[in-house]
Order: sequence, then C-alpha cells, then structure tokens
Amino acid sequence: MAMRAAVLGAFGSAPSVEDVELMTPGPHDVVVRPGAVEVCVTDSYALRPGPLAHPPAILGHSAAGVVEEVGAAVTTVVPGDRVVVAGTPECGECFWCDRGEPHQCREIFEGAVRHVARRADGTPISAAGGVGTYAERLLLREYGVVRVPTSLADEHLCLLSCGATSAMGAVFGIARVGLGDTVAVFGAGRIGGWIVQCARLAGAVRIVAVEPMAERRERAAGLGATHVLDPADGDVVERIRDLTGGRGADVAFEAAADAAAVRASFDATRRGGVVVPLGMVDWGVTVDLPVNDLAMRGREIRSCQYGNVDVRRDLPRFARVLESGLLDPAAMVDRTYPLAEAGKALAAAADRELITAVLLPQC
Ligand SMILES: NC(=O)c1ccc[n+]([C@@H]2O[C@H](COP(=O)([O-])OP(=O)(O)OC[C@H]3O[C@@H](n4cnc5c(N)ncnc54)[C@H](O)[C@@H]3O)[C@@H](O)[C@H]2O)c1
Ligand SMILES: [Zn+2]
Ligand SMILES: [Zn+2]
Repeated sequence: MAMRAAVLGAFGSAPSVEDVELMTPGPHDVVVRPGAVEVCVTDSYALRPGPLAHPPAILGHSAAGVVEEVGAAVTTVVPGDRVVVAGTPECGECFWCDRGEPHQCREIFEGAVRHVARRADGTPISAAGGVGTYAERLLLREYGVVRVPTSLADEHLCLLSCGATSAMGAVFGIARVGLGDTVAVFGAGRIGGWIVQCARLAGAVRIVAVEPMAERRERAAGLGATHVLDPADGDVVERIRDLTGGRGADVAFEAAADAAAVRASFDATRRGGVVVPLGMVDWGVTVDLPVNDLAMRGREIRSCQYGNVDVRRDLPRFARVLESGLLDPAAMVDRTYPLAEAGKALAAAADRELITAVLLPQC
C-alpha cells in the first residue's frame, strides 16, 4: 500500500516526509490507520546514533487509531477496532515477557530491527523502537496493539502510548504514591506534568515541582503542584527537606533528562523513600550516589520503562481514567501538526517550545 511517512534517512539528518510502500502484513500482523500520534522527546533521541533507530527508519512510537487489516492468525482484534499502539514492543515469548516483566522485553533492548515499508527503489525501511508511528499506516504485530473501546478522541487516546501511561504506571504501579504523601517532581515538562496530575489523584498532600522554566512552573501549579521551585533559586534539596520537617519527600520522580536531577531526586528523598528516575540521557552517562545511603538508609530506586505496564491489563483501565476526567488530557496537548510537519513538531518538543505536540497523520 502506498503511503506517506516521516523517515529518518541517516543519523544527523532531518526527517523527511516521503512516499513509501507499506509491506504486506504477515499472519500475525495488523495494519492500523493512526488517527493521532503523540510526539515524544525520545523520538528526537532516535535522530542520533544509538539503539533507538536503524535508518532509514520511520520515526515515532505512539499512536491511536483503527485496525484496518489483520493477518490470518490474529485473534484479539478485528478490522474496525479502536486500538492504542503499545509505546514499546512486548513480544509475549521472551524470558522477560514470560516472567511478567514485558517492560524489559528483548525486542526493546536487544536490537531487533523490524522492516515495515520500502522506498521506491526497494530499500527496506525499519520502524524506530520497533514501532514507527509517524506514518499514514502502521504495520504492527498483533501484540503491539491493544483494543480499547472508548469515547476518547484519538488526540487524547494516543497519549496512552507514552506520556499518560508512563506517568500513571510510575505513580500508581511503581512508586505507589499514597494518601498524605509528599512527592517531589524534578522536571515539569510533559512527563512531569502528567506525574503532578497523577500525584494529586493519588492523594499526595504536597507536590513539589522543580523546574527551571517559569511558564512550566506556572503550568505545574495549575495541574496540581502545591509548591514550585526554580533550581536556580538555591538548594532545592534543602527546600524540600524544609517542607518536610527535615526528612525529605516520600517519593521523588525525575523527569528532567538530566543526571544532576537524578542525584537531586535521590538526595531529596527521605530515609525509606522511593526514587523513580524516568528521564533518558545519552547512553553511558553516569551518576554518583553515596554508598552508605544505598546500604543503610532504605531508599529504593525503582526503574520506569513506559510505566512498567502490562499493556493489555492497563491501557483499557487507564483510558477509563482519562474518560472520567480524573486526569485531564486536554491540559497537556498544546498543538496538532499535519504529517508533513512531523520534523517541525519533533523540534518543537525537543526544544521545549511546547509540552505536547500531537501529529495528525491523515492530514
Ligand atoms: N522512562 C519512561 O517511561 C519515559 C517515558 C517517556 C519519556 N521518558 C523520558 O523522560 C524525559 C522527559 O520527557 P518529557 O517529554 O517530559 O521532556 P520535557 O523536555 O517536556 O521535560 C523535561 C523538563 O525538565 C526540565 N529540566 C531540565 N533540567 C532540569 C533540572 N536540572 N531540574 C529540574 N528540571 C529540569 C526542563 O526544563 C523540562 O521542562 C525524556 O528523557 C524522555 O525521553 C521516559
Ligand atoms: Zn518479550
Ligand atoms: Zn515516549
């Protein structure tokens, strides 16, 4: 099938929207017509050498849309179903998937390259992150889509492919923020904004957002932060301790994509507290941590990869939370872009001109 897609031709180049040919689906594949695609800062990391893309590659890892075609062996979806695309793949048969840890699936970390389309000259095009959603049609494996009957518009449903799900998983599943907790959030961008919303829903009484950009601090306050701190205004760790009788936060989330913020989130947490680092930096960047604190002070560092969710269990119930109004997707989306402006949308997200850009691949 002929279609348009935003393709990264080579590392370091700008993505270009090209006419390509979607490959024929196999027995376990589905073809999805995406209605909306959440643009994620992580998609911009795929522009640089690393494991996220193997150029030429269709960028993107989030989408919501409608199933258009299914392979002969597909049993869980039929044409016409509304689906959310799983933001990271889950093969269902590797060591980690078998252990109930699909967020560590081999397809995410072991360099699987999936070809989904061809250029006019026949060159195969891969899917960034094994997903590849900046396109008019998506060729995915059955396990890469989850049927979600919902009244949500695609522009909001697609947020379950990345931001909303990562935050709900982090707050409710990984950290288990509880009533009366004090929560610190380092970085009040897209992910941090969702975490602030989720922490409020979880019943946290103090939500401290640490963010250098003034307009984002203001936005965090509107989403539920009770305190906003500018890291340029002195020692934020001390200020979080001051707010908590000298103890530190019960839970700290790092969504700043900054190694210093990872360290600060650890230092800002009380003895026995929980630290959840979410931000991605360049591969190989490290952070120093005090050994005796690790050994003696009971803080747990809990990793978060797409909220560590089980997509089939979690995405339908997360959709119900968005439908109910308990969390507000409209407050997170700033602007929609047609597919032809995919590069512009990605640059706007990476340059922090907006919190969430949504691509409309059929426009
Ligand atoms: N682990 C996961 O499940 C997961 C899921 C989605 C995205 N991510 C990653 O999370 C990170 C954040 O994504 P995003 O879309 O929210 O990005 P974003 O750019 O919208 O937000 C990052 C925010 O951190 C702020 N910041 C920068 N340095 C800071 C510091 N030292 N202290 C406090 N704040 C600081 C920035 O001003 C910005 O507002 C990215 O690295 C992304 O790849 C992780
Ligand atoms: Zn797997
Ligand atoms: Zn993402």
